Amino acid sequence: DITPVKSVLASYFDIGVAVEPPELSGPHAQLLLKHFNSIVAGNAMKWGPIEPTEGNFNWGPADAIANFARANGLKMRGHTLLWHNQNPAWLFRDAVGNPLESGNPAHRALLIQRLQSHLNAVVSRYNDVVSDWDVVNEVIDPSQPNGLRNTPWLQIIGPDYIDLAFQFAAAATTTGGLYINDFNTEDPAKRDALANVVRGLLARGIRVDGVGHQTHIRIDYPPLERIAQSIDLFTSLGLDNQITELDISAYSNDTDTSPVSQETLVRQGYRYRDLFDLFRAKSSQISSVTLWGLADDNTWLKTFPIRRDDKPLLFDEQLQAKPAYYGVVDPS
Ligand code: XIL
Repeated sequence: DITPVKSVLASYFDIGVAVEPPELSGPHAQLLLKHFNSIVAGNAMKWGPIEPTEGNFNWGPADAIANFARANGLKMRGHTLLWHNQNPAWLFRDAVGNPLESGNPAHRALLIQRLQSHLNAVVSRYNDVVSDWDVVNEVIDPSQPNGLRNTPWLQIIGPDYIDLAFQFAAAATTTGGLYINDFNTEDPAKRDALANVVRGLLARGIRVDGVGHQTHIRIDYPPLERIAQSIDLFTSLGLDNQITELDISAYSNDTDTSPVSQETLVRQGYRYRDLFDLFRAKSSQISSVTLWGLADDNTWLKTFPIRRDDKPLLFDEQLQAKPAYYGVVDPS
């Protein structure tokens, strides 16, 4: 019988996993409860799934995950309140279905009001169980002069949409930490653009508690020192760090479709070992680490960036421990 990941990491940080509602029963649920002490909805709390038409919430799937956390004493992360993907069609349209326009004050006001209502409804429903929120997701683009991704949020509201999202979240939450979440946060240009946006928020007196580092990385990239440097930078700004969507693709590019070899899975195990060595060494700067999936039978990397049989997680398709698991729990 193998050692629970959560026991090995108990003195360092919470260890979480992204879940879909069907995984909340049977062998998946058993594996989850054995190894993890925190969960996050892989999709159920995103705007499209949870508010498919305006003011009519589809709480079922998100409630199922939240109730599982409540019943089993798990922590829960809230993902995500504002994103440019997986939004309902109505969000950026007016009452007759025309797109909301940039530079239109009435459209700006309408979208701000929608943002406030949505954040209020979602945050207040899960205040008792969600300990941290990804308030905004993937808003940074270092190729833009202001460092902000060009999205309908930016176009219709303007750059202060991020301030507003954090203010609305702060007003609605009773206990939850407020995070700015993004991918490639270890890339120096992305990291610095993110740091500039965070400095601006803090300088304007906006409450931000931490950075969420998605950490969708590859078997051979990026170098782990970059992850360390990024964590240190955000610590120096006074913020917490959370690793929010960890997986390690077995592929080193976006086009390879060859089957993943056992040798690659062993190399992946060493990479997980080295990465968790780093996380443990910086555990005073990292309050939680969340894997983006329980086992290789259900990972978004089977369809992104292309359809292929990627194997990025700690457990295999049969829910058996991989070298990746042993790298995390038995780092010698
Ligand atoms: C992914 C989910 O895992 C997939 O099931 C879905 O089809 C697309 O979104 N960054 C994020 C996550 O912040 O919400 C994404 O999740 C993965 C990339």
